[in-house]
Amino acid sequence: MYTEKVMDHFTNPRNVGEIENADGIGQVGNPSCGDIMKITLKVEDNIIKDIKFKTFGCGAAVATSSMVTEMAMGKTIDEALTITNKAVAEALEGLPPAKMHCSNLAADALKVAIEDYLKKQNV
Ligand code: FES
Repeated sequence: MYTEKVMDHFTNPRNVGEIENADGIGQVGNPSCGDIMKITLKVEDNIIKDIKFKTFGCGAAVATSSMVTEMAMGKTIDEALTITNKAVAEALEGLPPAKMHCSNLAADALKVAIEDYLKKQNV
């Protein structure tokens, strides 16, 4: 039911944790299941230098969070803002239809973290 990529990111998630003194913090909850995800960012010269996530959620939420951190790492703020739920799911070679909503959590948490960073910069 899950692709190998999903299983890989679920069993061996990348960038787990929380950055201290983060430049941007995004936390979102999924109202349909109650799962929660938090993303913290370090930004230098408009580039995401470090990104970590913590997820209290299902396997698909862990896999999408892990993938979104890999996709955002090293990107400019503008590039990272273009990462969509769909792109994350595609990078994982697909999610079962019933699990598509889980990918919203990852891209949304990234967006909230970036918005938080921009707010702190007074942009
Ligand atoms: Fe809640 Fe997947 S079931 S994020």
